[in-house]
Amino acid sequence: MSSFASSYDDRLEPESSRPSSPTLSGAGTEIDLREQYGRRVTALGRTYGLPGDSEEWYRLDRQHRMFIEMQGGKWYPPAMERVMKSNIQGEKRVLDLGCGNGAWYVLIDRARDVGLHFPLCDVLAIDLIPIKDTRYLPSNVKSEVDDIDREDGLSHLYGQFDVVHCRLVASGVRDYYELIERIVRILRPGGIMELQEFDFRIYDRDHREIEVSVYSPLGPPYWARFMAHMNQAIQKKGGDVDAARHLWKWVTSHEAFEDITYRDVWVPCIPGDDSRYAAEVYPILRENITAFLKSGRPMLLANGMSEAVYDTIEQNTLREMHESNEPQYTRLQCIYATKRHVVGEDSF
Ligand SMILES: C[S@@+](CC[C@H](N)C(=O)[O-])C[C@H]1O[C@@H](n2cnc3c(N)ncnc32)[C@H](O)[C@@H]1O
Repeated sequence: MSSFASSYDDRLEPESSRPSSPTLSGAGTEIDLREQYGRRVTALGRTYGLPGDSEEWYRLDRQHRMFIEMQGGKWYPPAMERVMKSNIQGEKRVLDLGCGNGAWYVLIDRARDVGLHFPLCDVLAIDLIPIKDTRYLPSNVKSEVDDIDREDGLSHLYGQFDVVHCRLVASGVRDYYELIERIVRILRPGGIMELQEFDFRIYDRDHREIEVSVYSPLGPPYWARFMAHMNQAIQKKGGDVDAARHLWKWVTSHEAFEDITYRDVWVPCIPGDDSRYAAEVYPILRENITAFLKSGRPMLLANGMSEAVYDTIEQNTLREMHESNEPQYTRLQCIYATKRHVVGEDSF
């Protein structure tokens, strides 16, 4: 087990019981995915706008693998080993909120599957979009279709989980702090919350934000421009684009949490001369950005961007990705914390 212990070891401070909806059900549910500019997008979430099709699931699988490589092959917080100790089948329970196609627990790479790695635990994976093929889920993994952004959306899960993992869902959540409040209630005392989010901004080699106005004339840096448009489109749909930059403050100032560990993972989406990661990371990264540009297209066109402008930004971003020496980074902000057993007179 220890070979998969998480790279969270280096502690850094940042710079700066009722189903929620009877219409939603479990794994394999046929759900209303509508066509939007050539991709399949869920009609269920009011906010989330990225596609929910096979192409996107493939991208997320590859992205998951990329994150693992970037973190030295490690994929869960080390504190999870302690929390998951049990000899009783089903005693420990893990929840993945906004699981996508289940990358965190059931990947091509089954050694890094929570359900298999902790075979005695039960895993519940929740997403707006049903997992495509549940035949490959380990028997201790179940899935549920639900909107984690609904006020009452998760109340049927309160007090039932030892670990809650949530990665890259901010664009589908209007009030991320409220989501944290719900997670506090979902967790059992001593349980772990792990959050990982981007802030939809791009940074230079010195980790300074590259500011690009969506109203400025078309020009480089194009990846930063693409993300500025994504930021705007997501905000217009109500997504909490700034959640990542508040994670540290929200979690450290919340009386429910202790043993808080934070780190940034700098993702060189335009690699330039970046060489911090193993060589095999960069081809996956390029593949991921190429696919992400396409994933963002429906949202950008729905937000009023013309196809011509989109094509210019896409092509020039690809050129930057292959030719530029100047890296442009996305910042994955990662935090995990333990829920206190008792806080004051109240236990959460
Ligand atoms: C960018 S993907 C990340 C998937 C996965 N967590 C990962 O890191 O690979 C975002 C996922 O969150 C889901 N999602 C977004 N907003 C949601 C919401 N309000 N309720 C449930 N799922 C949501 C989307 O359907 C999508 O599968």
